[in-house]
Amino acid sequence: MTDVRAVGVVGCGLMGAGIAELCARKGLDTLVHEVDARAVEAGRDRIGSSLARAVERGKLAADERDATLKRVAFTTDLADLADRDLAIEAVPEDEELKLRVFAVLDRTMVRPDALLASNTSSIPIMKLAAATSRPGQVVGLHFFNPVPVLDLVELVPSLVTADEAWERIHAFAAETLGRHVIVSQDRAGFVVNSLLIPYIVAAVRMFESGFAAAHDIDDGMVRGCAHPMGPLRLADHIGLDTTLAVAESLYAEFREPHLAPPALLQRMVQAGHLGRKTGIGFYRYP
Ligand code: CAA
Repeated sequence: MTDVRAVGVVGCGLMGAGIAELCARKGLDTLVHEVDARAVEAGRDRIGSSLARAVERGKLAADERDATLKRVAFTTDLADLADRDLAIEAVPEDEELKLRVFAVLDRTMVRPDALLASNTSSIPIMKLAAATSRPGQVVGLHFFNPVPVLDLVELVPSLVTADEAWERIHAFAAETLGRHVIVSQDRAGFVVNSLLIPYIVAAVRMFESGFAAAHDIDDGMVRGCAHPMGPLRLADHIGLDTTLAVAESLYAEFREPHLAPPALLQRMVQAGHLGRKTGIGFYRYP
């Protein structure tokens, strides 16, 4: 176990809610930041329904659910994260926004040994670290959706992450959270998205060109390769906005034509067809 007991989670969307739920389930004092009261309520509902599902599935006892909920508090003021041992940023995949959050966390968090982590899928950790006055304490801590179910985290040091901070965050991820840790260098997409997003982009292009229907593309990978979901349903599950943002980061870093986001993906995001979270993507969700 590590010395990290009080955690701040910035953002309570798909990923932030899962991260907050996991931290609270592991007994940590968890303070979640969202932008306004409505977003707080939506985040609280996300955590509540995931915990309810865990109870229904026999993964969690009802009294553990209640204890977990008691360990999660919400705020709309980032200044309330002042006393945290660790802040995990999980706001949308927008570089300007993340840079602003890191700059504010840097001013806010008072503990000199506080750790600042980002759940970014693709933005260089070095850029986020450079937005702070303590770049040695900034790391990438990347979870997978659904966070309570998938037991992997990618840990990403920047060029200047301090050894002591690295050891503490590694122990936090592996021991306190009990996650399987893989380590990636600070390259766009890290290990998993560098492999996954080009595959999803290829599937979108296949669908866009009329090569095959969405359900046939997905059935091909589910039934032919035993994946739990096909690539288009998985894109809907991740969120088409996040999928597009990661594809853009990969393309910006590596400039390989096959990484260029397909026009259809861009149009769907512009239309607000973001996948499961908005009820429509490659499929419809009631
Ligand atoms: N807490 C704990 N366990 C839970 C839970 C919760 N809140 N909700 C569900 N579970 C458990 C269930 O009990 C079940 O466990 P068993 O297999 O032991 O019975 C398991 O999780 C699966 O749950 P369901 O039966 O409800 O759902 P499913 O079988 O239809 O699977 C899925 C749903 C887990 C999403 C599965 O389809 C899957 O793994 N899909 C792939 C997801 C994936 O690839 N995610 C990574 C995306 S990339 C990413 O996130 C990073 C990025 O940067 C873009």
